[in-house]
Amino acid sequence: MSKILVTGGTGFIGSHTVVELHNAGYEVIIVDDFSNSNPKILQQIEAIIGVKPELVELDLCDEAIVKNFVLQHNDIAGVIHFAAFKAVGESVQQPLKYYRNNFYSLINLINAFDSKVNLVFSSSCTVYGQPDVLPVTEDAPTKKAESPYGNTKQIAEEILQETCAVTPQLKVTSLRYFNPVGAHHTALIGELPIGVPQNLVPFITQSAIGKRGPITVYGNDYDTPDGSAIRDYIHVVDLAKAHVAAIKRLESNKASTNYEVFNLGTGKGSSVLQIIDAFESSTGVKLNYTIGPRREGDIEKVWGDVTKSTKELGWKAELDLKEMMSSAWKWEKYLQDNPF
Ligand code: WQD
Repeated sequence: MSKILVTGGTGFIGSHTVVELHNAGYEVIIVDDFSNSNPKILQQIEAIIGVKPELVELDLCDEAIVKNFVLQHNDIAGVIHFAAFKAVGESVQQPLKYYRNNFYSLINLINAFDSKVNLVFSSSCTVYGQPDVLPVTEDAPTKKAESPYGNTKQIAEEILQETCAVTPQLKVTSLRYFNPVGAHHTALIGELPIGVPQNLVPFITQSAIGKRGPITVYGNDYDTPDGSAIRDYIHVVDLAKAHVAAIKRLESNKASTNYEVFNLGTGKGSSVLQIIDAFESSTGVKLNYTIGPRREGDIEKVWGDVTKSTKELGWKAELDLKEMMSSAWKWEKYLQDNPF
């Protein structure tokens, strides 16, 4: 049974990926510093899979600690690297915090494995900016990111591509996520935003349960059918399964190159107002919202071309908007009765 290291494994996408790795027969070891997650998630994962994954709390920005960790765990067959700061707005206010954390952790990991490792990297569709052509494919040009967060994803991809070009034993897959939403069907794990949610769906569920006031729709004057911005929302469980497919592909040595990029979306776009409708029709809960001004840095519309992911990873998103919204709502209700 291959052992996979999941950095940031108690985070939103990380925790769901730990579950799917277990379901696929992998052993998992988690590294986390809990800077943006809750240690209780480990018990929640155990409640789902029946075993408690090994977890080592450490700072990936400390080169010596990471080197020592890898020396002590020489049975790691692959790495899925989630651990990074990801709040777009915060990154604008604290760029150095983002560049330091997101780059030190990645470079320390690669060096600790002496560049001989199968690595799945958590990237983002934010690297495309506002694409000129939709759906956006992996070979679309990347654009200067609107935020230091987005810049860290773009530059990290360049670091990986350039390192792979001169290091044949380093095999990397960058996964460009569109908009991850929803929660595990057990409602034992899900998104745990810290403070006021910046992302749409956690704000919706907190508004619906009465933790927040009305939703502000950031702009309805975009060049879209209903004027609100469009994104490609993907269920977090579908996203997690794609990471298992990526690890399997790396293990299979099927790829003709040691650096690959894949879009992880559904291939369909939904507007903010459509998400609000989908939530109401899936849950029966009426939402209050107002139309406000556009949010600084937002793009107008993006959805992914997932042909390559389906063909090469043998993966396709299966869960629809109804499941995304109903699972997110079930998780919010669980949190109300079981506050973390
Ligand atoms: C979605 C749409 C908002 C909140 C960002 C990052 C991406 C990833 C996901 C980390 C937009 C609108 C939102 C609200 C609204 N981050 N909105 N009212 O900005 O597409 O992506 O988060 O992994 O890398 O770029 O996601 O959920 O913030 O916004 O109208 O209260 O909902 O304007 O059109 P976004 P989001």
